[in-house]
Amino acid sequence: MKIIIIQGSSRSTGNTSVIISALRTHLQADLLDLRTINISPYDYENANRGDDFLPAMRNIVTYDLIILVTPVYWYSMSGLMKNFLDRLTDCLKIEKETGRKLRGKALAVIACGSDNNQTPGFFEPFKLSAAYLGMDYLGSLHTWLVGEPEIEVLNSLSGFAESLKKQKAE
Ligand SMILES: Cc1cc2nc3c(=O)[nH]c(=O)nc-3n(C[C@H](O)[C@H](O)[C@H](O)COP(=O)(O)O)c2cc1C
Repeated sequence: MKIIIIQGSSRSTGNTSVIISALRTHLQADLLDLRTINISPYDYENANRGDDFLPAMRNIVTYDLIILVTPVYWYSMSGLMKNFLDRLTDCLKIEKETGRKLRGKALAVIACGSDNNQTPGFFEPFKLSAAYLGMDYLGSLHTWLVGEPEIEVLNSLSGFAESLKKQKAE
């Protein structure tokens, strides 16, 4: 099973990356850091079709499981992650064959906030988008980080990784 983790933090080596490193001790996965590529906001005229989004998507659709990891910014996903989701519209309008390849792929989402209070409805946009795209939603996990990760967070990441592996094996 090929797995890609898509990191949506405004800093490459912040808290979200610590969570991703902990996850990668349990799962063998490649990493795409959205901060290192140029994905501009959705444009109705598709004037941005030459940026890095479509090449990134052509690579992403070669994976079986896509894990989106976003920090919690203002009770929601990061702007980088939202831009990325908005641009999936390009795969429905201007490059449909890439969009069709998302069907049947697995999706999972991890949030990283500053405490263990999960914002109600945080994961709904991901679940609904997965359903719309014909993807198999394997689950969500809320984590948090201030300094070193708490044992509860590390254990939840380990359990989440096991659950993803088990679901993909079924
Ligand atoms: C712009 C901004 C907004 C934030 N909003 C929230 C929030 O609504 N809820 C929360 O728990 N933490 C919030 N935080 C804290 C971050 O979610 C938390 O520090 C996270 O671990 C940061 O991950 P990062 O280092 O990858 O950016 C916010 C941080 C920033 C920079």
